[in-house]
Amino acid sequence: MKPLNILSIPGDGIGPEIMEATLPVVEKVLTDAGVSYEIAHAKLGGQALDEYGFPYPDETKALAQAADGILFGAIGGPKWDKMPRHLRPETGLLAIREDLGLFANFRPATIYPELVSASSLKPELVSGLDILIVRELTGGIYFGKPRAIEEREGERVGFNTMIYSESEIRRVAQVAFDAASKRGGKLCSVDKANVLEVSQLWRDVVEEEAKNWPNVELTHMYVDNAAMQLVRAPKQFDVVLTSNLFGDILSDAAAMLTGSIGMLPSASLDVNNKGLYEPVHGSAPDIAGEDKANPLACILSAAMMLRYTFNLSEQADKIENAVSKVLAAGYRTGDIAGQEVGEKLVGTREIGQQVLAALS
Ligand code: IPM
Ligand code: MG
Repeated sequence: MKPLNILSIPGDGIGPEIMEATLPVVEKVLTDAGVSYEIAHAKLGGQALDEYGFPYPDETKALAQAADGILFGAIGGPKWDKMPRHLRPETGLLAIREDLGLFANFRPATIYPELVSASSLKPELVSGLDILIVRELTGGIYFGKPRAIEEREGERVGFNTMIYSESEIRRVAQVAFDAASKRGGKLCSVDKANVLEVSQLWRDVVEEEAKNWPNVELTHMYVDNAAMQLVRAPKQFDVVLTSNLFGDILSDAAAMLTGSIGMLPSASLDVNNKGLYEPVHGSAPDIAGEDKANPLACILSAAMMLRYTFNLSEQADKIENAVSKVLAAGYRTGDIAGQEVGEKLVGTREIGQQVLAALS
């Protein structure tokens, strides 16, 4: 069998530290399973800007196109905040998503029993929470044209275009219906169809697609209401399907419900389930290099990679179980500490080693 082709992109800020804690975990489960693999390394974002002058350099592009699974750390930092838009670290992330056609973004928001009190909501509202946000990732207002800041009638105007084709809506809807059919069987499509034409089309196409999924119960919700419902009664949701911009916003709110954005993984997939896997949290430049960052979201992203891209669900389970064991044993990084007695506050390296140890 051809070795699994994995690309590691640590990125900026805490990216390198969390990746360093993650790769040994991946290597161990694959080695234990007798699966051969190759791991290449590349730069994206600020690091790539410093070295190549571009946030998504050709070297990285070639490796990314060749890889099956890409594990990514974090992007951005104050050092590059003043760069022009086409040379911002974030532009590198948007470019790799677009280049690889990673249109389906999975953002689960699940809560660990040990961390329920870290949520900003009352424990009864969030305990047992298990939501999956499916966000369209390569279309909508993020990529729509025309877009510019220009001079009109003696003053500057700025504009973007929120545009979706039928086929773009349908393919992400299919992914979301499929996910819902394998989970709780409920799909809530979030739009702003009371105001926007693009959302009306979104709703119409999702309705049409629903006919192919008789076992999934489809509902629709306006995005403002969805934001409210997420913080009012989040457990009403199973799978949420939404567009690029709305998904960006709602997934941050959903992440906060779990009280620990440092715990949440994500997957961005193309039509063949090739994917880029990254923690939902950012680059946390304020603690970078201090051995304080929580690597668990990155480790859990690796588990998602094994599950979705490599079909190694048993190995993915092993990683997820190891993370649960480490939490149950009381190990905490600073971001998730302070909830219970008997906790052991540890750094990035130590918690990574505990996960590794919990695997055997
Ligand atoms: C995310 C981030 C990105 C986005 C930024 C860094 C470009 O906020 O992945 O949610 O807006 O998509
Ligand atoms: Mg975001």
